[in-house]
Amino acid sequence: MTDHRIALIPGDGIGAEVLPPAQQVLDVLGRRHGFGLTYTAYDDWSCERYLREGAMMPADGLDQLRDKDAILLGAVGSPRMPDHVSLWGLLIPIRRSFRQYVNLRPIRVFEGIDSPVRGARPGEVDFVVVRENVEGEYSQVGGRHNTGFPDEMAVQEAVFTRAGVTRVLDHAFALAAQRKGRLTSATKSNGIVHTMPFWDELVAERSASFPQVGWDQEHIDALAAKFVLEPDRFDVVVASNLFGDILSDLAAAVAGSIGIAPAANLNPDREFPSMFEPVHGSAPDIAGRGIANPLGAIWSAAMMLDHLGHADAAKDVTDAIAAVLAKTDVRTRDLGGTATTSEFTETFLELL
Ligand code: NAI
Ligand code: MG
Repeated sequence: MTDHRIALIPGDGIGAEVLPPAQQVLDVLGRRHGFGLTYTAYDDWSCERYLREGAMMPADGLDQLRDKDAILLGAVGSPRMPDHVSLWGLLIPIRRSFRQYVNLRPIRVFEGIDSPVRGARPGEVDFVVVRENVEGEYSQVGGRHNTGFPDEMAVQEAVFTRAGVTRVLDHAFALAAQRKGRLTSATKSNGIVHTMPFWDELVAERSASFPQVGWDQEHIDALAAKFVLEPDRFDVVVASNLFGDILSDLAAAVAGSIGIAPAANLNPDREFPSMFEPVHGSAPDIAGRGIANPLGAIWSAAMMLDHLGHADAAKDVTDAIAAVLAKTDVRTRDLGGTATTSEFTETFLELL
């Protein structure tokens, strides 16, 4: 029997409330489809740990993860410390050290969910945002100057490399070729005159290798409007780190709730473990009350199974998500219901 070594990092707030339901789902599927999952839990890698010991994870944390087949993460972040410290103390080192250069965020409007967008009809909105995940606007190049004086300044450089942009574009084009064959590239080459024209040139260049994919490019501002006005026109949307981050939250909101949206941080070359996590954060406003929607974490676990070679098990999960939303009115509060996390999970497991 195949056995997969999984690292579990619940993190902070509702991160720790949504991972156990995802683990229950994984165990059901392992039994059904005949694979084993061995978990190593890193329960204290969190803001609590940072506030106590000055680091989100131990000094050899990355080495502890290196031999795992995949990482399932809840969320990190606490109102008691700055967000850039928690993000750069755990998530970003994992993404960068393990060269998880593709961030994949699928968006679907399920039957039984009321999208806040009138034109977002179930079954018609089904696309994927492919976000560049290790370079671009989120760079450490830059600095602060004249701190505390009236002429204080901050400079931050965006870094776009031919290798880095090319590999994420290739992943996006290949994904579009397997799906409906349409790719949209997010740009802003009218305003950002160096990096974005470079991005656009590489899109045009790579498109030649994927003649079966039709593609276009949209400026990020116009694209944001189109996500709301015509969300059903997209198949694969490829974007730089910052643009992809913003677009995927917008898309998750169009789909009905950020509580459902999943994400995969992929190392497609499989030299290192990939990491799977819901799009949402630690939600301090509802943490500790047992009312978080576990679907984002459950769907992320399904993406992990797909990556580990269990596409059939992953489909069981997305089918059960569709079923629980279409056939029952059991909903957590973010979707207008009153079910607790555990009540919702129980209904979900019955349908699974
Ligand atoms: P958030 O996603 O935690 O919450 C935004 C809103 O959505 C809140 O009202 C929250 O209650 C609701 N929400 C989110 N997930 C939900 C779920 N599963 N079920 C029901 N409601 C849900 O984003 P926010 O408030 O901007 O950030 C809170 C903290 O999380 C910050 O410290 C931030 O840095 C961190 N964060 C961490 C991320 C990660 O670990 N990948 C991603 C985004 C934010
Ligand atoms: Mg985000």
